[in-house]
Amino acid sequence: MFFPSEPFRIKVVEPIRRTTREEREKLIKEAGLNVFNVPAEAIYVDLLTDSGTSAMSDNQWAGLMLGDESYAGSKNYYHFEESVRDIFGFTHIIPTHQGRVAENLLFSTILEKGMIVPNNIHFDTTRANVEYNKGLALDLVIDEAYDPHIFHPFKGNMDLHKLEQTIQQHGVHRIPLVFITITNNSGGGQPVSLQNIRETRQLLDRHGIPLFFDACRFAENCYFIKEREEGYRDKSIKEIAREIFSYGDGCTMSAKKDGLVNIGGFIGMNNDELADKITTRLILIEGFPTYGGLAGRDLEAIARGLQEVLNEDYLHFRISQVRHLGQMLEDEGVPILKPVGGHAIYLNAKEFLPHISQRQFPGQALTVALYREAGIRAVEIGGLMFGHKDPHTGEDVWPELEMVRLAIPRRVYTTQHMVYVAESIAKLYKEREKIRGLRLVYQAPVLRHFTARLEEV
Ligand code: F0G
Repeated sequence: MFFPSEPFRIKVVEPIRRTTREEREKLIKEAGLNVFNVPAEAIYVDLLTDSGTSAMSDNQWAGLMLGDESYAGSKNYYHFEESVRDIFGFTHIIPTHQGRVAENLLFSTILEKGMIVPNNIHFDTTRANVEYNKGLALDLVIDEAYDPHIFHPFKGNMDLHKLEQTIQQHGVHRIPLVFITITNNSGGGQPVSLQNIRETRQLLDRHGIPLFFDACRFAENCYFIKEREEGYRDKSIKEIAREIFSYGDGCTMSAKKDGLVNIGGFIGMNNDELADKITTRLILIEGFPTYGGLAGRDLEAIARGLQEVLNEDYLHFRISQVRHLGQMLEDEGVPILKPVGGHAIYLNAKEFLPHISQRQFPGQALTVALYREAGIRAVEIGGLMFGHKDPHTGEDVWPELEMVRLAIPRRVYTTQHMVYVAESIAKLYKEREKIRGLRLVYQAPVLRHFTARLEEV
């Protein structure tokens, strides 16, 4: 497989430490078999998330020194606004300190009890923000997304038939907007095609419903469009991004992903009245509209990061690095979700550990084993994250997919780190019968995976 070498060289290094198996055994036990509770210093390769974990460039670090920390009207805000508008085009751009605050502000402003928000698949914080505001979060992705073996170039696509049916069933008045998450994180980081976005827009235009994007990984989505969709090979990433957002009425964005920064986000929209309402709330919980919970220097880093992420050499390396890890694992027979998406490899825990039933959290069991055996931190995206009790029947409801996500931070780990990850997982796969199922001993009422405690069965 041709694998492009890193389009950057290393100027500053951050030492990381190898721990012993005994140390890790003790730490993971103390952590209640939950890798969120393990100190990051005791992790060798941290693939918990690609969010806020990017390495900034020399250009971004230089930008930090130009931070203007004025309370109102900082020059970095104007630069941030110009950079965001250049790509996203929306009339109003409201900074927030991260993506979920953008979601919180939006949904707490527009949702009334019983309203419905369709999405391809809601990310967990998006779902939680909809539900917390008494809305119903519906996932309407195409069926192929739930089959880890089918190759579909745009497995994140919205199912237009399901969307039309939802509108017919519930009525336009109950659907204040429709979301499309690019790329579709909870479905494996899978892209959405421009054709699907255009057709979603046409469908919603017939009903007068606004379209918003969850734009966290928009540049990675654009790269897939350029690579896979007819008619986009000769377009630049920026041109593709501009076309995507031209079909939207707004977006929420966690700049911690494709903003290439450690903190930050924003909401973009065209509706003046909505922008006024959100700004009022913003001042209450985040800050003045020209900083929105961020320092001036953070806004500068986002302004620069958003332009850097459009670089095709960078994106080619980025997508190829993830794909290369997927290929190494496949070569060893390890079951993964296919095709490989933009920011992560998803191990198929049901197939990795067929001897553990879903009610004994095979995804979490695999995550724990990966830390204990190799010092690698991944995250479960399965029964622990999404399992819940049906509010009507009280029965346990389990998600279709039981995954372990290896999210790759941007510009952080080298190819040799990826080889280490692949070899460690291949070894674990050979000894998979030794891994045991888990049971919950503590869970919080919402987003339980962050703080849950478990023990081995
Ligand atoms: N939407 C998507 C698709 C996300 O992946 C995330 C975060 C958010 C919204 C919320 O953004 O963290 O800045 O508040 N995803 C991270 C992850 C946490 O690990 O996938 P945030």
